Amino acid sequence: MKAFIVYCHPSGDSLTRNLKDEFVKGIVDSGNEYVLSDLYEMDFKADMTEEEYLRDAYYRSTPEVAADVLAEQEKVNSSDAIVFIYPVFWTEAPAKLVGWFDRVWSYGFAYGNKTMKMLEKGVILCSAGNPADKLEKLGLLRSMKKVMFGDRLFNRVKQKEFVLFAGTSREKESRKGNWDDNLRKAYEKGKTLFLRSEEVFSLDDRYFTSVSNSDDGEVSDQTVFSYHQKGNVIWAEYSGGRIIKGFLLGTIDENNNLHFDYRHINTDGESKSGSCNSEPRPVNGKLRFYEKWKWADGREGSSVIEEL
Ligand SMILES: Cc1cc2nc3c(=O)[nH]c(=O)nc-3n(C[C@H](O)[C@H](O)[C@H](O)COP(=O)(O)O)c2cc1C
Repeated sequence: MKAFIVYCHPSGDSLTRNLKDEFVKGIVDSGNEYVLSDLYEMDFKADMTEEEYLRDAYYRSTPEVAADVLAEQEKVNSSDAIVFIYPVFWTEAPAKLVGWFDRVWSYGFAYGNKTMKMLEKGVILCSAGNPADKLEKLGLLRSMKKVMFGDRLFNRVKQKEFVLFAGTSREKESRKGNWDDNLRKAYEKGKTLFLRSEEVFSLDDRYFTSVSNSDDGEVSDQTVFSYHQKGNVIWAEYSGGRIIKGFLLGTIDENNNLHFDYRHINTDGESKSGSCNSEPRPVNGKLRFYEKWKWADGREGSSVIEEL
């Protein structure tokens, strides 16, 4: 299998460059192949020409497409997966990568009567200076994901994954503190890229919110859960709605069912805790948790949590 990696960062002195190198090592170690477009090294031209604009704007499938665009389109069509690796710049991909989409996702290739191959997977490895909970709270992570999944990858890939490396600003302790873990994660993502999803079920860096809950529950559609996983240990931080701050910690069993204890402080200043058993099931392409929870005082309920 072959991955097409579109990498975009202006400097080799960067975490993102190291993430790319580790991801590549992972692919090679898995016995798969890759082809790389390093957009800065190639000096990829991000600006559309007027001719290119008019071709797209008038929905013309004319065969005249610039050689650099054709080369990129050929890389797409000779691969099984596409992987974008970049830092967040102003809640977007760097301008060069945005321009890559403007030009390479051309009419007749990526839309219209398209000739683009349906790829098995589309993966995004994205570094961000801000911590994940801040990006989530401000709705920025959702926006970035929405643009990449809902527009750029959309129905062009069978399976999508957004991997965030957050809190990586040079001002933050977490840049150094999480450096090795982040590189390990990038390597693992490369190594497992072509495994089937059931072979690599992981909750690491996945975000969920509630879609329904019993009356006695406090979690709502305003609450966001930020999940992590290491081996069979899972944990999450949650907040929003009636929850000021909450944590859960537990394990995932061989059937991927979760068993955890939770504790949070609610908006009345009460400290509440309980335990929960949760069964993940994919519904309409999204992962849902069907949960049965129990407060420490014995009251019970059930909820459904869905991936953002
Ligand atoms: C021009 C510019 C804009 C940035 N905008 C954002 C942003 O909107 N949100 C964010 O979380 N980080 C932002 N960052 C931080 C980058 O994402 C940061 O460079 C990266 O996460 C750290 O990794 P690096 O060492 O690979 O650059 C920005 C950085 C630059 C240089």
